[in-house]
Amino acid sequence: MICIREIDPADLALFDEWYDAFRAGAVAGREAALVTGREALGYSLRNPGPLKTRIAVGAFEDDRVLGGMLFEYRLTDNLDTVEVEIEVPPAHRRRGIGTALWQWAVTRSAQLGRTIVQTELGVPAGDSPGAAFAERLGFQVEHVEEHLVVPLPYDDLRLEELRSAAGGLDGYRLTSWAGLCPPEHQQAYADLHTAMDLDVPTGGMTREVVPWTVEKLEASEARIDRNYLALVTMVHTLAGEPAGYTLIYLPRADAENAQQDDTLVLREHRGHNLGTHLKLANLDQLAKHRTTQRFLHTWTALTNAPMRKVNTRFGFRAVEQHRELELRLPSLRPAARGVILDPDDRMLLVRFEFDDGPLWATPGGGLEAGETVVEGLRRELVEEVGLRDFADPPHLWHEEVVAEGHATGYDGVLNDYFLIRTDHFTPAGALTAEELRAENVHGMRWWTPAELADHDGRFAPRNLPDLLNQVLASGPPTTPLGL
Ligand SMILES: CC(C)(COP(=O)(O)OP(=O)(O)OC[C@H]1O[C@@H](n2cnc3c(N)ncnc32)[C@H](O)[C@@H]1OP(=O)(O)O)[C@@H](O)C(=O)NCCC(=O)NCCS
Repeated sequence: MICIREIDPADLALFDEWYDAFRAGAVAGREAALVTGREALGYSLRNPGPLKTRIAVGAFEDDRVLGGMLFEYRLTDNLDTVEVEIEVPPAHRRRGIGTALWQWAVTRSAQLGRTIVQTELGVPAGDSPGAAFAERLGFQVEHVEEHLVVPLPYDDLRLEELRSAAGGLDGYRLTSWAGLCPPEHQQAYADLHTAMDLDVPTGGMTREVVPWTVEKLEASEARIDRNYLALVTMVHTLAGEPAGYTLIYLPRADAENAQQDDTLVLREHRGHNLGTHLKLANLDQLAKHRTTQRFLHTWTALTNAPMRKVNTRFGFRAVEQHRELELRLPSLRPAARGVILDPDDRMLLVRFEFDDGPLWATPGGGLEAGETVVEGLRRELVEEVGLRDFADPPHLWHEEVVAEGHATGYDGVLNDYFLIRTDHFTPAGALTAEELRAENVHGMRWWTPAELADHDGRFAPRNLPDLLNQVLASGPPTTPLGL
C-alpha cells in the first residue's frame, strides 16, 4: 500500500532517502540531467524564504520512500500558480505512484485555491515516460528550449579563436565579479534582472513579472550564495549605463556541473557582439573559480535564433529538450471523507436533503487551510459523528467532480476517501442537530452491504455499493482509485 506524506526536511536521514529516490527518478534515461544538489535542496527546504513555499512529498511503502515530488508556490506574486516536479525511479514506475503523488498535488492546490499547475520536463530523444505521463494528466506544452552542454575545462584554443573573432569592445566596458553584487552595481543589476524577466521568452506559460528591487536582489543573492558561487559579468556604456549581463552558477557542492544562467543584452545595445564579449569574460572567471566541474549547462529557446548561434560558436551541444508545461485545474472544494465500517461491515452514512431529494454520503467535510487531509478528516469526524482515536487510515479513492451546484463559488468538489475500521458506535458528534441541519445533514445510520445494494436512492459517490464490495473483496487498493 502506497502512502503519500510530506517529508520533514529536518529529519536528515529521511530527507536523504527521499532525495535518493527523487534524484534516481530525475536522472534515469537522461544523458545530462541537472538536478538541484542534495545540500542546496535540503538547505532550501529547511530554511524557507519569504517568497516561496517549497514542500518535499514522498510516496511511502512500508516506510520506504519509492518516489518523490517537489510542490512549490510563490507567496507574493503568481498567486494562482503551483509548480510540481514528480520523480519516480524506474524500478517503481507504472504502479500508479506518479498518479498518487499527482492526486496529492491536486488536493493541496484546491486547498490553496490555486488552479494553474506548471511543470518542467527534460525530454531526451526517444521515449519519454514524463511526456506520456504529463500528456495523460492533461498538461499542455507551452514552451520548448534546448538543453545544451559543453565540456569543461573550456577548450583554450576555441577561446582564443572566439576572442580574435570577437574583435574589440568599442564604446563599452566590462565589469566582472564572483559572489554578491558590489553595492555600486546593485540598482543596475536589479533593473537588468527585471528586463530579463520581461524579455525572456516563455511561450504560453502564465507568469506575472514583478520588478526587482535592491532589497529583493540582496535577499535572493544571500540565499543563493550559500550553495552557489555566482559568476557575473556586466557590460556598461562608457558613460556608465548598463547594457547587459551574463551569469554562471557554480554549485559549491556539485563536483560535476556548472550552469550558464541568464544572458541579456538590452535591445538598444544589440548588434555589437556584446553577448560574445560577456560570455568570454565570464568564461575567464569560470576558469579561475572552477574546481572539478566537468560540464557547463545552458538552456535556449528554440525560437531564439541569435542565442542559438552564439551557443554553437561556443561549442555547446544539445542533449535534450527542456519543456515547460501548464495545466488549468477547475476550482474544486476539497473535502476528506470516511468510509467507516463496523466489525459486521456495516457502513455509517449521513443523509443530506436537497431540493431534488435525499442523498446518502460518507461522513466528512471541507478541508481548512493549513491542515493535512487526514487532519481534516479527524476534525470533521469528531464534529459530525463523534469518532476519534483511529490509526492513520488507508486512502481508498480520490474523486474530482466538476458540476454546477455542488459547492457555491466553485466549479465542483474534490473528495478524498479513507477506510476506517471501528467498533460499532452510536454516532454523536460535537455539532448539535441544528448545526448539522445548517450543513444540510438531516440524519445518519448504519447500512449493511445488502441494504446498500437494495436501495434505489442516491449515494455519493454514486456507485458506492460497488466500490464498497470491491474493498470488502480485495482490500484497499495499493494507490487511491481515481473516481
Ligand atoms: C513520469 C513518472 C513520474 C511517472 O511515474 P509512474 O509512477 O510510473 O506513473 P503512473 O504509474 O502513475 O502512470 C500513470 C499513467 O501515465 C502514463 N505513463 C507513465 N509512464 C509511461 C510510459 N513510460 N509510457 C507511456 N505512458 C506512460 C500511463 O498512462 C500511466 O497509466 P497506466 O500505467 O495505467 O498506463 C516517472 O516515469 C518519472 O519519474 N519520470 C521521470 C521524471 C518526469 O518526467 N516527471 C514528470 C514531470 S512532473
